[in-house]
Amino acid sequence: MRNRLLVSSCLLGAWLVTGCDSPPAPTDSDFPPAALPTSLTAPNCNVLTTNAVTASGDDGNVPGNTQDDDLGTRWSAQGTGVWLQLDLGAVQALTGTTIAWHRGNERQNHFVLSTSQDGVTFTQAYAGDSALNTSAQTTSFASRNARYVRITVNGNTVNDWNSIAETRACAAAAPPSTTDSGAALPRQPYLQSVKQTSAIVAFRTPSTCTPSVRFGEGTSLTSTVSAGVAGTRHAVKLSGLSAGRTYGYVVEACGSRTGLRSFQTSPLSTATKVHFTAMGDFGTGGSAQAKVMAVMAQPAWRSELLLALGDNAYPNGTDAEFQAHLFTPMAGLLREVPMFATLGNHEYVTNQGQPYLDNFYLPANNPQGTERYYSFDWGPVHFIALDSNCVVGLASADRCTLSAQRAWAEADLAANTRPWVVALFHHPSWSSGEHGSQLTMRRQFGPLFEKYGVDLVLTGHDHDYERSKPMFGDAVASSTQRGIPYLVVGSGGATLRPFATSQPAWTAVRDAVAYGFLDVTVDGGTLVARLITSSNTVRDTLTLTKTLPTTAPAQARVQARALEAAEGQDTPPGPVEDGPERRVDSPVPPADTAESVADPDERLLPR
Ligand SMILES: [Fe+2]
Repeated sequence: MRNRLLVSSCLLGAWLVTGCDSPPAPTDSDFPPAALPTSLTAPNCNVLTTNAVTASGDDGNVPGNTQDDDLGTRWSAQGTGVWLQLDLGAVQALTGTTIAWHRGNERQNHFVLSTSQDGVTFTQAYAGDSALNTSAQTTSFASRNARYVRITVNGNTVNDWNSIAETRACAAAAPPSTTDSGAALPRQPYLQSVKQTSAIVAFRTPSTCTPSVRFGEGTSLTSTVSAGVAGTRHAVKLSGLSAGRTYGYVVEACGSRTGLRSFQTSPLSTATKVHFTAMGDFGTGGSAQAKVMAVMAQPAWRSELLLALGDNAYPNGTDAEFQAHLFTPMAGLLREVPMFATLGNHEYVTNQGQPYLDNFYLPANNPQGTERYYSFDWGPVHFIALDSNCVVGLASADRCTLSAQRAWAEADLAANTRPWVVALFHHPSWSSGEHGSQLTMRRQFGPLFEKYGVDLVLTGHDHDYERSKPMFGDAVASSTQRGIPYLVVGSGGATLRPFATSQPAWTAVRDAVAYGFLDVTVDGGTLVARLITSSNTVRDTLTLTKTLPTTAPAQARVQARALEAAEGQDTPPGPVEDGPERRVDSPVPPADTAESVADPDERLLPR
């Protein structure tokens, strides 16, 4: 296969006259090559896109010049052992590199190729000399998995300058297409329960078949797993993954084939960074939700995981509403960003959330084996998701109870080993919005949060944004108390509701004007949470800091590794057919628009 590598917009003729950058002339001076092709191809190379390029140094001809498709620019550095390094962004199955050498027709370069998975430890793949021409020269080596390629140059047959015009890494196979083919799936793939070593890809097919998922690191889809059974609702578990890596996947089902999608696995416990997003009260299928989603999908806000804070499918949480108000409008995101959800009161309208439970594949790491509440780790953060409906009287005792959930939550928090803890649930412990503070949630779980060092509590329910000051008990924390900020992020799509009362003294920031979501980054001892509006502006910023131990005690590391090894505890994937949907509450009143979702009067809800 001949892939187009380089088509210079500054070809030889133009280069000699004018209109292009002046030939840089430090000391590795330019002499127009005698026979510079008007276009170069990379023979025997499935060209991979370079995510980043760096070098040990340069003379002003920077490393980025090797990725600009321009033969008139180059990377140059003088001396023996200088290097240029390609970062492919993910581990890939590599079979070589292709290099167009600057002045390659005048001198042969002495070079070494080495590869690495982590950017630290490199293994030599090739050592030799370049051919005497300016063509892209593909050097092949035995297939290996690597993310980084380093080209170390030790001068040439004329001098000790090292100059490369263009270079790329070559994959074992051409990357799969990113375009869907065949009939569209009635439900696009969505990621669930992504862990360090496994992930679930769920989707629906238009007819009964036994689909399969091809997957692998980067774009090398070297593994295939079958759904195992025929059906229309599928949840396929990808196993044998590595922590903190980027994987690609393609669903092949009933003659349809999705384009290449990618996601990140949960990082190791020793990871210090995480980027996640959160929002609640979004599942309307309306225009405000779409605007929020459009901003969330932008590269700057593309996170590793999304927390759904409840009221994910208005108005009644039926299966059809999950499709129309969540899976369809959010398909582009959910196929690459795993959603970890909590139940809202609207999901409880239909059979106490049964369609929600049927559509999501969540960790069920509690003695009750329920997906209604669960916890998981993602790098430095321990997330604990609660079902506040169990606390406010919406759940029958056979579904969940406050006492069982609270006992599990305490044991879970007590066993946590990660430096940051984030709790999420629907009904807010602190809110000055329409529904107000949910005092049972506050008083049943607040003491646990305080005792076990929860750093941040994320909720929804009220259709606004509100951030409390650091709270302790029923009041703002004193200077000697470790307070917890409670956030309401109920502005994900349902019609915003103005605050009816003046701002309480315990409120730090509140807003009922902007739709949006919360963007959270953790980097070592710093957590930054920002409210991003549907106009792509930052409406609020919260920064938390803490001092982390510089090195984890050996015992803690051992314990963490043991937990990682035991992370397989979850709900087994597989097709789940819904039973008939039953209501336990009356349907909520009809709304005028998709966003104008009515809430039932909470005083009428069963307690
Ligand atoms: Fe709600």
